[in-house]
Amino acid sequence: MTAMLEVRDLTLRFGNVTAFDGVGFDVARGELFAVIGPNGAGKTSLFNVLSRVYQPTAGSVRFEGADLLRLRASGLAGAGFARTFQNLGLFGELTTIENVLIGRHHLMRSGSLRTGLWLGYARREERRHRAAAMEALEFAGLAHHAHDRVGTLPFGIRKRVEIARALAMEPKLMLLDEPVAGMSLTEREEVTALVRRMHEQRDLTLLLVEHDMNMVMRIAQRVLVLDFGETIALGTPAEIQRDERVIRAYLGEELEPEGAIL
Ligand SMILES: Nc1ncnc2c1ncn2[C@@H]1O[C@H](COP(=O)(O)OP(=O)(O)OP(=O)(O)O)[C@@H](O)[C@H]1O
Ligand SMILES: [Mg+2]
Repeated sequence: MTAMLEVRDLTLRFGNVTAFDGVGFDVARGELFAVIGPNGAGKTSLFNVLSRVYQPTAGSVRFEGADLLRLRASGLAGAGFARTFQNLGLFGELTTIENVLIGRHHLMRSGSLRTGLWLGYARREERRHRAAAMEALEFAGLAHHAHDRVGTLPFGIRKRVEIARALAMEPKLMLLDEPVAGMSLTEREEVTALVRRMHEQRDLTLLLVEHDMNMVMRIAQRVLVLDFGETIALGTPAEIQRDERVIRAYLGEELEPEGAIL
């Protein structure tokens, strides 16, 4: 069976800074795949290449057999890609449900002209999208915040709004960049449970970048470890935890409170 995502010999350089070099891995349909590594290892840059923010210097990426690097960033949502950002990518002035509705933009049929011509259809469509957005909020345990302005919500909740928006995109593959960074223990548990629920109940393939080893080791099926842009290990959480190179890479790294890898 072909993998959902096939990454081969991928390299990204910014002038003489190498973000990552010769990275290759497969993500199977339905897999929860994590990418870890110390600060500056190249994780976010890898996500930025996968989500077409950066054109790689070399290498290939295939998504469901098609060349992902020929797709524009604007075509990603339609292809079944959704992502969240290390630093929130939400509109603080808008309400939670409005932010989630934006995630469904690529699924909307009525443009402004057609809206004028077929008001009835547009209204039905809007109801359908609102219902779907609400459903994603309920799934994320956020229905009661639907009409709150996102800028007024605590950080831990906003991060879940971002995940709910990605979920409302009805993606095949979701990229999560540090979904629990900066969170309290309780918030981390909520997000970990949400990611696990999405994986188990929504038939989603997930790519997770995270520094919280406790979260990664509990929910990931396989883990890719980058260090200074190089792949140093790829395996199950159990294999990664006893890998000599991984242990060495993390020595001297300031581990997060729950992040005990050793
Ligand atoms: N736009 C850019 N221009 C120049 N260098 C960049 C750019 N983006 C990233 N880099 C460099 O690429 C390397 C990898 O950075 P990246 O942000 O991918 O690391 P990371 O693994 O996500 O780190 P963190 O855990 O701190 O989020 C770093 O050396 C970084 O300085
Ligand atoms: Mg990063």
